[in-house]
Amino acid sequence: MKGQILSGFLAPHPPHLVYGENPPQNRVKSTGGWESLRWAYEKARESIKKNKPDVILVHSPHWMTIVGHHFACVPELKGRSVDPIFPHLFQYDFKMKIDTDLAKLCCEEAKAEGLTAKLMQNPNFRVDYGTIVSLHMLNPDWDIPVLPISANNSPYAFSLDAGQEQMIKLGQATKRAIERRGVKAVLAASNTLSHLHFSEEPNPPEDMSREHVQSDAQYKWDMRVIELLRNGKIEELKKIYPQFIQEAFAEVKSGALMWMLSALDFKPIKADFYGYGTVIGTGNAVMEWKNSAGGAL
Ligand SMILES: [Fe+2]
Repeated sequence: MKGQILSGFLAPHPPHLVYGENPPQNRVKSTGGWESLRWAYEKARESIKKNKPDVILVHSPHWMTIVGHHFACVPELKGRSVDPIFPHLFQYDFKMKIDTDLAKLCCEEAKAEGLTAKLMQNPNFRVDYGTIVSLHMLNPDWDIPVLPISANNSPYAFSLDAGQEQMIKLGQATKRAIERRGVKAVLAASNTLSHLHFSEEPNPPEDMSREHVQSDAQYKWDMRVIELLRNGKIEELKKIYPQFIQEAFAEVKSGALMWMLSALDFKPIKADFYGYGTVIGTGNAVMEWKNSAGGAL
């Protein structure tokens, strides 16, 4: 049976969301916070529970690789992941099953696209917090195999254009690998939108009276981008993408969103908007692109 992508998610990864939720895996406890974003993720969780994918693939900017695109290829990874910037918020004991067959096919197809690609086979690999937060927020039961994909550093080390071109090829390679593997897959683009943030933390960190957008200009950029995505205007998004990234310091520069949209063939799907919220001033949206929605050109 030919595999298929059921849907793609914009799945931002501030560790504050896990910290605010207080799952048993996180050793640090809070009194809550960032509810509007966490409740947005509940809608994504419902959708995943309903559609029962065989695998969730996640592209995270915090697994950055300098040479090529890497695919986790160890049957099970477990350990404790600590956020290097927010170690007081995120000390998470993770355990995940990896679809290694899909990893191998992704690697093969990426090479066929002319990309440098590699399987990550270190059994003691410590998974980054971006991958873990997005996956936890989408499926806290961890009962679906996953496939973490690294973010090649080319958008930063080389150029934005060359980097995004790589992500487009990676998306196409991912799609073909899913089809060959014969699985129902969900894609998670682990990206914040605007990314300028505060430099001082309140005490306690979850004091929501101190949470707000970092700047009005940044907020307006986020709303403009979300509005395009809600209306399936992908071609228009591509046109403003470089300016958005530059002016809002957007984390989508690292490639996850472009990878996901490419895997969905840049179809003009009207994304379902589940919620928006700031975390230390950065803009975060939880959205879903249902592949079956198709989108008319
Ligand atoms: Fe990040």
